[in-house]
Amino acid sequence: MARINLQGISKKFGASAGVEWLDMQIADGELLILLGPSGCGKSTTLNIIAGLMAPASGKVIINDEDVTDLPPHQRNIAMVFQSALLYPHLTGRQNILMSLKRSGLGREEIARRVSETATILDIGPLLDKLPSHLSGGERQRVATAKAIVRQPDVFLLDEPLAALDAALRLTLRSELVNLQKRLRTTMVFVTHDQTEAMTMGDRIAVMRAGRLEQIGTPDDVYNRPDTLFVAGFVGSPPMNFFPGEIIGGESPRLRCGAMEGELKGRLATVPGNTQVMIAVRPQHLRVREEGGPGTLSATVFALEHLGKESVIILEMPDRTKVRAIVDPGVRAPVGTALQLDFDMEDALFFDPTTGHAIR
Ligand SMILES: Nc1ncnc2c1ncn2[C@@H]1O[C@H](COP(=O)(O)OP(=O)(O)OP(=O)(O)O)[C@@H](O)[C@H]1O
Ligand SMILES: [Mg+2]
Repeated sequence: MARINLQGISKKFGASAGVEWLDMQIADGELLILLGPSGCGKSTTLNIIAGLMAPASGKVIINDEDVTDLPPHQRNIAMVFQSALLYPHLTGRQNILMSLKRSGLGREEIARRVSETATILDIGPLLDKLPSHLSGGERQRVATAKAIVRQPDVFLLDEPLAALDAALRLTLRSELVNLQKRLRTTMVFVTHDQTEAMTMGDRIAVMRAGRLEQIGTPDDVYNRPDTLFVAGFVGSPPMNFFPGEIIGGESPRLRCGAMEGELKGRLATVPGNTQVMIAVRPQHLRVREEGGPGTLSATVFALEHLGKESVIILEMPDRTKVRAIVDPGVRAPVGTALQLDFDMEDALFFDPTTGHAIR
């Protein structure tokens, strides 16, 4: 079992941020996802937890013990990287066995663990092959087996599925979650794929430019994003943003272009008029051919067929693009003029200057 506590972690690389003032608590047995765009500090954070990199300031505490100055091998942590690290001259089985070399386990237990791990990851036929005879995805599965077989306290994975084809990715994603739940090993999983984050995580830590933007359950970050960044990063297709204005007074009203509606107690009394950024999910936009008073005009930019539904991409008069989910049968030639609107209840509001949610 392992609880992880990061306290005020900072690490700079010359002028670039690395990570700054990172505070994070990871519960025992939790699967925490580190999510964020390229360069936001996910791998740096993981390397600092593993002990592969020392923070410039701050502490790494595992189970109440300060491990900041302990080397990786004294932390009982296993890590899987973006590209599989395997000994090229050893077979899959020998690579996996290397992990148990100093474990002190008996022959039978070792054989049992290797075969159990091989079954879980479906790598039986790969065990006697050399890494150079395996595909990228197969190498990654052997590397994952190598980490799992040790039954570490903490399991750190840095985009282990990134190199795999879509089908294998889906399979391995659920296998990893199932395994993590059965072993109840604390897991920190790095990805920049928000679908992976939403489907796998007990909680998601959204990072941006070296800082923690929001940490919460998938429901929290999807339905109650703290910032515009989180609102725009989580969800596929992403949220749509419309500039608008809250007209203050006893019962505040919201204006968005030609649309206007009551906020029905959604916000406390707003003294004056306030500029806001309105965020609406693609499934909450209504698109129609005929407008009326209080709808927004847009033209069709593209239509993407996803099978069970389609995504219509519309260009607004200010050239911004918005996405709406429509029925799969909808036909909409590029350039067609359409009208759209949404219910005020489905909108979230953000301060356009600070990017913070207004609740
Ligand atoms: N060893 C290093 N030397 C110099 N700069 C580094 C080093 N490692 C990371 N950085 C910088 O620190 C920042 C964070 O890097 P990090 O690798 O943690 O990002 P990441 O979120 O893992 O990105 P990706 O999704 O591309 O893997 C980046 O700006 C990166 O260029
Ligand atoms: Mg990385």
